[in-house]
Amino acid sequence: MSEPALRVEPGSSEEALLRQIDRSRMPRHVAIIMDGNGRWAGKRLLPRIEGHRAGVSAVRETVESAARLGIEVLTLYAFSIENWKRPRHEVWTLMNLLKEFLRREIRTLVDNDIRLHILGRWRELDPSVVATLEEGLAKTAGGRRMVFNIALNYSGRCELVDACRKLVADAAASPARAIDEAAIADAL
Ligand code: FPP
Repeated sequence: MSEPALRVEPGSSEEALLRQIDRSRMPRHVAIIMDGNGRWAGKRLLPRIEGHRAGVSAVRETVESAARLGIEVLTLYAFSIENWKRPRHEVWTLMNLLKEFLRREIRTLVDNDIRLHILGRWRELDPSVVATLEEGLAKTAGGRRMVFNIALNYSGRCELVDACRKLVADAAASPARAIDEAAIADAL
């Protein structure tokens, strides 16, 4: 595992937290499902949007901390196909927060040697979101320290459908290749 430079303020709470982490037992891949933004806001009598804003801010800190701790892959499940059932205005706000996050954070991702990768049927999102994502992918393509996956417009069932389609297409190109466990794992 690579040993990133971890600079923390001596005597800070961050330094105290860092001392509790056993760096020899770090996971290689951490996956997070975004949840509880609305409840966070509700408890504070704030509109849901404020919960989403706080969620984005937590994402920012999580990405930077994960890279500094030497996590190799961070996956964030951000917007599922199920989430389209939310009120139109909330969906619109979430898409804008995503664009805003990317525009602001790309520089930090590049500076921290982080490569962005997008999972799910993200190409079906609004063209303005797709364009921002493509720009982020292009600018961070050289990142070697950590892969930051964001799952967008995802669902477990859609992933299975997409994997089956890929397996069938690959089998047509190379019928000799049996569909086995490795081929399925590759396609997922
Ligand atoms: C979960 O909280 C939040 C979501 C499903 C949406 C999260 C997406 C964004 C904030 C867009 C920006 C994304 C990134 C990657 C920066 P909830 O609304 O389900 O909360 P609740 O369970 O308390 O109602």
